[in-house]
Amino acid sequence: MAIERTLSIIKPDATRRNLTGRINARFEEAGLRIIAQKRVWLTLGQAQTFYGVHRARPFFAELTAFMASAPVVVQVLEGEGAIAKNRDVMGATNPANAAPGTIRKDFALSVGENSVHGSDGPETAADEIAFFFSGLELVG
Ligand code: CMP
Repeated sequence: MAIERTLSIIKPDATRRNLTGRINARFEEAGLRIIAQKRVWLTLGQAQTFYGVHRARPFFAELTAFMASAPVVVQVLEGEGAIAKNRDVMGATNPANAAPGTIRKDFALSVGENSVHGSDGPETAADEIAFFFSGLELVG
């Protein structure tokens, strides 16, 4: 399987509860390498741009206000099949449906406050990585 990169966000519900290290351990234990990482506090406008694909959804205002409510940790994960692997490690979007041992099953509070975001495909991953990181910040 090809080496891929994917964009991950540790969301405000998790940074507030000081879970960054425990979540990062899940990625590393699954064989994903954190090749770039920074803690940022998104403006509402930045959150709206990042989640623009969801603009028409009923939860858009709630989602973007939440993402701008506290710092997040944005990171690039690299590894074999990293996009699908990260989605496996995260678990289902709604923690009520997430499998045992996944990040969302163990840490998420609700479908909105679900602790982590991960890119859903190769094109999305490239766009989302470029939203947060310059090429100079991706050292492998
Ligand atoms: P994420 O993977 O970051 O992508 C879009 C996010 O929208 C998703 O995780 C959820 O946190 C959020 N989301 C999806 N459905 C709902 C919902 N019904 N109510 C609030 N937030 C939602």
